[in-house]
Amino acid sequence: MRLRNVPGAKQAVEESPWCVTMPEEYRGQWRSLFGGDGTKPLHLEIGTGKGRFITEMAGLHPGVLYLGAEKYSSVLCKAIEKQTVAAHPNLRLVRMEAEILPEVFAPGEVDRIYLNFSDPWPKARHADRRLPSARFLRLYEQVLVPDGSVEFKTDNEALFDFALEEVEKAGWRLMACTRDLHRDAVMCEGNVMTEYEERFSSQGHPIYKFMIQRR
Ligand SMILES: C[S@@+](CC[C@H](N)C(=O)[O-])C[C@H]1O[C@@H](n2cnc3c(N)ncnc32)[C@H](O)[C@@H]1O
Repeated sequence: MRLRNVPGAKQAVEESPWCVTMPEEYRGQWRSLFGGDGTKPLHLEIGTGKGRFITEMAGLHPGVLYLGAEKYSSVLCKAIEKQTVAAHPNLRLVRMEAEILPEVFAPGEVDRIYLNFSDPWPKARHADRRLPSARFLRLYEQVLVPDGSVEFKTDNEALFDFALEEVEKAGWRLMACTRDLHRDAVMCEGNVMTEYEERFSSQGHPIYKFMIQRR
């Protein structure tokens, strides 16, 4: 998702009290953003888009701190425009590229990572840009707690199959997996739909999901 040339997007994101634009400054102290509550788990969505998922999660789980990371201001400003973001004291948005995760989070600072409908990068030569690739899993490993987890959802079967191979290759443990989330009563319990999930499932596409943990 890239909304090109949204006038004023960069400025809106930089001026928003709900958005962090210099994330490296919080390395090792993200919980201070939320009043320093060191006991609450920190969950990060990478590629949050317009923020529907992370906003709803923050409302449902006040005991968890949520960060929605997105690389484009033009997309993030759409999340900020939604007044609902401001209503959740346990939610912040972060403008950042996932490549720099270890510069933004200290080892063990994050408890869970969500990847929702990540860009598929269909060309083979772009495979290592895919967010569930082994290359990115190694970055996630650097910032997660030892028993930290990654949850991945997509409508794209080829990307899902690729991701499962990468999980194996990178030595992560597959905790749960479904090829039709909305018909899987156990895995769908508590499921919060993303914008893309709503769109694709309403068109009849099955939703794929796995949950993995570091070994
Ligand atoms: C296909 S959209 C999905 C949006 C949302 N997660 C959903 O499910 O509705 C993917 C989003 O991830 C963002 N994104 C892609 N690669 C990224 C990266 N390396 N770092 C941060 N954000 C990224 C894109 O800008 C886009 O907004």
